[in-house]
Amino acid sequence: MNKHLIKTLLLLAPAWAFAAGGGVHLEKANIDPDNVQSLQRGAKMFVNYCLSCHSAELMRYERVGKDLGIEDKLVQEHLMFTGGKLGDLMTVATADADSKEWFGTVPPDLTVIARSRGADWLYTYMKSFYRDDSKIIGVNNLVFPDVGMPHVLWELQGWQDAVITTVKDSHGKESKSVALELTEPGIMSPKEYDRAVRDLVNFLDYMGEPYKHERKSLGVKVIMFLLVFLIVAYMMKREFWKDIH
Ligand code: HEC
Repeated sequence: MNKHLIKTLLLLAPAWAFAAGGGVHLEKANIDPDNVQSLQRGAKMFVNYCLSCHSAELMRYERVGKDLGIEDKLVQEHLMFTGGKLGDLMTVATADADSKEWFGTVPPDLTVIARSRGADWLYTYMKSFYRDDSKIIGVNNLVFPDVGMPHVLWELQGWQDAVITTVKDSHGKESKSVALELTEPGIMSPKEYDRAVRDLVNFLDYMGEPYKHERKSLGVKVIMFLLVFLIVAYMMKREFWKDIH
């Protein structure tokens, strides 16, 4: 199978994509889609650190601003670095051919990445880069072995190294377990980094399904209406049947 086909299959099969994590335990992202501030911080992270390589071509800046309650002027100042119009799609400046030459592969569009990978995978992925001198780009990733993406958030997180320990089970069978250890701190504490990644994943999740929020609040309204209607119906029933008994 060629690489492209494998990738397409991975995108189509979330369950399989999960298995491709190589059995690594995924950390819970615990994102909160209703937390608008978290989404705003995530949007900023995304345009600052991801949009130079990855696009989000199904998304318009204008929509992000409206959904996340950011004024047009602020969207232009804080989310759009290369000018352009508010109605523009979140495309990327790097040409595919250049990416291919630099990274050996074209960074995929991230608009619906949360739907194919899931929030927990993305959260764990952004926390699982580690130094690996055997790789050309000098890094590797626990949930995405031999990844072609550099650790773009290294300044924030710092550098992790893999600590491999061999454990023996009760039958004497050996197995290796890999843990990551922060050996060179970044400008954020581990707690701050977790929060930053959670915000980022929250935003990626929102992009994958921008209607989720609307749908949820509509659902609540419908249920409220049904409850009120139930009370009215009950009162009417009592009224109608009162003389019959
Ligand atoms: C310097 C360029 C570059 C930047 C910046 C970058 N990436 Fe990547 N990313 C890549 C490349 C190249 C790949 C493809 C890796 C592969 O297939 O081996 C990739 C792959 C990924 C994948 C895996 C996609 C899949 O196949 O399922 C995710 C998720 C991802 N990037 C998220 C991000 C996020 C989030 C950011 C911002 C914090 C970011 N990337 C910033 C280059 C980049």
